[in-house]
Amino acid sequence: MKGLVLAGGKGTRLRPVTYSLAKQLVPVANRPILHYVVENLIAAGIAQIGVVISPETGETIRKSLEEGHFDAEFTFILQEEPKGLAHAVRTARTFLEDGPFVMYLGDNLIGSGIGDLVERFRQREDEALILLKEVENPRMFGVVVTDREGNARRLVEKPSVPPSNLALVGVYLFGRRIFDAIDSLAPSARGEYEITDAIQTLVDWGIPVRTARLETWWLDTGKKDDLLEANRIVLDEWTRPDVRGTVLDSSIVGRVRIGEGALVERSVVRGPAVIGEGAVVRDARIGPFTSIGRGCCIEGSTVDYSVIMENARICGVERLDASLVGCRSRIVRRARRDMSMSLCVGDDAEIEV
Ligand code: TTP
Repeated sequence: MKGLVLAGGKGTRLRPVTYSLAKQLVPVANRPILHYVVENLIAAGIAQIGVVISPETGETIRKSLEEGHFDAEFTFILQEEPKGLAHAVRTARTFLEDGPFVMYLGDNLIGSGIGDLVERFRQREDEALILLKEVENPRMFGVVVTDREGNARRLVEKPSVPPSNLALVGVYLFGRRIFDAIDSLAPSARGEYEITDAIQTLVDWGIPVRTARLETWWLDTGKKDDLLEANRIVLDEWTRPDVRGTVLDSSIVGRVRIGEGALVERSVVRGPAVIGEGAVVRDARIGPFTSIGRGCCIEGSTVDYSVIMENARICGVERLDASLVGCRSRIVRRARRDMSMSLCVGDDAEIEV
């Protein structure tokens, strides 16, 4: 069975960071989200992976996957315009050869593997199996109503009055018939070819659409708060203490990973937290739930519950909290030092306050 990762799209909700970086490459615990996705597919025995890319960010996606040295064969599929998830599948049809496949949204993180799901789908030879999760705010998602046997009966995209609290997680397994359903689609009110409409078409044709419940967490990293929450959970669940850099006159509390060549001096780092390779942390307090990217420099500052991307510099900031800071940005505090800040800053920004 092949895998199809959707790594195109616009990422408007995560601007300004996504003006210069693909949403799927934003780091969680210092690792691009896309790498967790690909790892999950490979762990489920999927070695041929198609990756849908956009003209704007396709090259960086390709480079990032090459650098990841994954044990898989990637085929990159250019989607000229982000016309929806069903359109992305149609664009990938030649690669998929009308065979069964797992579709996985490249910006979704889930707290468990998909091996069992893939196995169940393989054995039963169904036409569709979708993963659902109970959520508190179904209005923001594709929502599914199921029947007593657990088959999908009705699917609605971002409903104003949700008919259930079961949201579609970004992992779908399909057989050949989904292509016929997609061929019959018209664009939705927002001008996209919706995968929910394609799945509804299967239901309308009397083809059983099976469902499975995700029992662990699921994070759709569309917005800053989701991303910070993903960072918190991934750090909390998967960080193991591992100090490779140099630590001088500092206190390292709890589960902290410090990369090679990093320097932590006269500082306190509270885990779970990660400090990337070659980063410098001096006279600072870091964490908990904080990722400091490779090559960053944090001096005389307190940073918690934040994602600071590669080569950013934060200097003299009394308290930076719940923030997302882009690569190479510089945040320098020169004046009064008694305020907390919460920022979402894209790449190469310069902020002096
Ligand atoms: P979305 O988050 O639904 O769309 P988006 O990336 O355009 O984001 P925003 O709403 O913030 O503008 O997309 C889910 C995933 O699917 C994401 O990884 C991008 C990918 N995608 C495609 O590959 N092609 C598409 O046409 C669309 C709409 C999304």
